[in-house]
Amino acid sequence: MKPFYVTTPIYYVNDRPHIGHAYSTVAADVLARFQRLRGRPVRFLTGTDEHGQKIEEKAKELGKDPQAFVDEMSPPFREAFEELGCTFDDYIRTTDERHETRVQRLWNILVEKGDIYLGEYEGWYSVADEAFITEKEMEELDEVTRSKVQRVREKSYFFKLSAYGDKLLEFYEKHPDSVQPQSRMNEVKSFVKGGLRDLSISRTSFKWGVPVPGDPDHVMYVWLDALTNYMSALGGPAAAGEEELFDRFWPPSADVVHIVGKDILRFHAVYWPAFLMSAGIEPPSQVWAHGWLTVDGQKMSKRFGNFIPPGPLVKEFGRDVVRYYLMREVAFGQDGDFSHKNLIARYHGELGNGLGNLLNRMVASIVKKSLGGEVPAVSESALTDLDRALIATAKASAEAAAKHLDSVAPHRALDAIWELVGAANKYVDTTTPWKLAKGESPEDTARLAVVSYTVLEALRWLAVMLWPYMPDKCDDLLAQLGLPPVAPREGTSAWPSTWGELPAGTQTAPAGALFPRLDDAAQTEILTRLGVAEGEGAKAKPKQAANAKKAAPSGDAAKKKSGPVPVKETVTYEDFTKLDFRLGLVLEAEKLEKSRKLLRLTVDVGEDKPRNVMAGISQHYEPEALIGKRVVVVLNLAPRKIMGMVSEGMVLAASDDSALSVLTIDGELPPGSQVS
Ligand code: ME8
Ligand code: MG
Repeated sequence: MKPFYVTTPIYYVNDRPHIGHAYSTVAADVLARFQRLRGRPVRFLTGTDEHGQKIEEKAKELGKDPQAFVDEMSPPFREAFEELGCTFDDYIRTTDERHETRVQRLWNILVEKGDIYLGEYEGWYSVADEAFITEKEMEELDEVTRSKVQRVREKSYFFKLSAYGDKLLEFYEKHPDSVQPQSRMNEVKSFVKGGLRDLSISRTSFKWGVPVPGDPDHVMYVWLDALTNYMSALGGPAAAGEEELFDRFWPPSADVVHIVGKDILRFHAVYWPAFLMSAGIEPPSQVWAHGWLTVDGQKMSKRFGNFIPPGPLVKEFGRDVVRYYLMREVAFGQDGDFSHKNLIARYHGELGNGLGNLLNRMVASIVKKSLGGEVPAVSESALTDLDRALIATAKASAEAAAKHLDSVAPHRALDAIWELVGAANKYVDTTTPWKLAKGESPEDTARLAVVSYTVLEALRWLAVMLWPYMPDKCDDLLAQLGLPPVAPREGTSAWPSTWGELPAGTQTAPAGALFPRLDDAAQTEILTRLGVAEGEGAKAKPKQAANAKKAAPSGDAAKKKSGPVPVKETVTYEDFTKLDFRLGLVLEAEKLEKSRKLLRLTVDVGEDKPRNVMAGISQHYEPEALIGKRVVVVLNLAPRKIMGMVSEGMVLAASDDSALSVLTIDGELPPGSQVS
């Protein structure tokens, strides 16, 4: 069986992981688990991207040494993915020595091939994307990103990308599936056909990167460094004696699938294969660009401060439910909105009523009460057309799901699997085993055995097929059927294909609902803990809505909306100038355990040391949403002790009866700037 190598992007460690990152890594995990189930040798890589200007700047902003900073920021990604049950075989960090030596090796190879030359770059650079930007691209950027674009003019090494246009087009022709989905392939081709310019691949204006061999004034462009991770983690480009992993898991010996978001397609589908072609190494078999998870229609991103961390969701719903939701809600390749409400709806509907109930009806009720908890024996000749139809559905479902997972369409595979969930439930409704269980005739008793066996075997198939998505729940399901957990073995396929492998006589072990129902109160509590108002998808702002509802039942609410607030007493200009308003940059924000209202902020106001500021805005902001915001702080209010801590300033905010929003500025002035 051909080895399978699946990778995720390596994530920038300038901030904390969010469910956008989780989405890519969970998708890769589902593919890895599926291919292992099929018996293929599998290697699954994820990790972090730790060099570059963006990270150097962030570390500086926090007054930290870059290495210490990345050492602190990388583990949370690893932990978040582990918490989500992701079974990566390796976790690469671009500050690993094993990586840096191989990036330099690749550089030397490109030099030997004559594809690197020294020149000067003049133009735009987007630090947020770590990308060189043309005038035209500049116009297409969102405002937040554009505000961070810099003009750069510096000596730089260039890679002769312009020489690879035809070779790339030829490669795409020969490997029409190498960029997926197909629509993205068209984009990539037209980009290449538009003409490629040589690519700047080194920088001199900062230090945090892999040094260019032989020219220590330059550090390598972070994307050349980062893309090489896919290879360096296997030991490539390999020196003599190190080829084993690389030869085994790189084309042509293996299928390689790079899972990426569509934001970074060009780097993977144009630059990366060009570097590899230059080095005489085969490009990856496939780059799969998925879409964006959005919140209220906007891309979830560190940049926009609207991101949802995976940890609290996993804590509330369990990792399998989060994995399932991510794979189910969004068609792989398209954008889709993350919504807590839909998550709960799918939990109750598809998982609880669909799958969980099927198991419960059978194992906890009929099999237990009427068959002594034992899987009955059934002979082929006893099967009716109805039974055969369900078996046919199971086979069709398993074949289709495998085909979809092979072609990286995890959402379609779930559609196919849910055909069987639906058919099995319908089968139970039609065959009415609870009536057969009354045992009014010997035929009924015989029939009950057939019906029960058919449903139990369908459940076993479902457990195996859903295992890549929900490993724990599926192992629990198997345990209730009296079976051992799924344990993939290289060389042997465990994907269901032969009906009737559930042994008769197996003792089932009912153990309660697989997806217990959450009543209204429980749902409200969960959403409150997550900081979400019922029925809303966003996280930062809606919190106050839930609280407002509680605090002010309808009558009061009307009263509170009392029209314009009267203007306060007039003060002199002198009075006004006594107040010292400054621009502050929020470096840290955290909830105070004992307080519902307060957040503790660390704010850089341009002094030697950041100030500690307590702000009563916890009901309106998640702490993460504030980090990096430029706020207005009153510096010379007499310090106040709040909950045992001294607050050294006050953050200004606008508010009405229910909403609150902190004041920020329209631009990028430095912390400490006067506000007047
Ligand atoms: O680009 N929806 O790192 P990054 C779906 N270091 N996926 C999302 C997402 C969202 N809202 N937000 C992020 C980098 N992602 C580089 C990559 S690879 C050699 C170097 C996922 O931290 C998605 O996979 O900005 C996207 O491509 C990736 O995170 C970007 O992560
Ligand atoms: Mg990004």
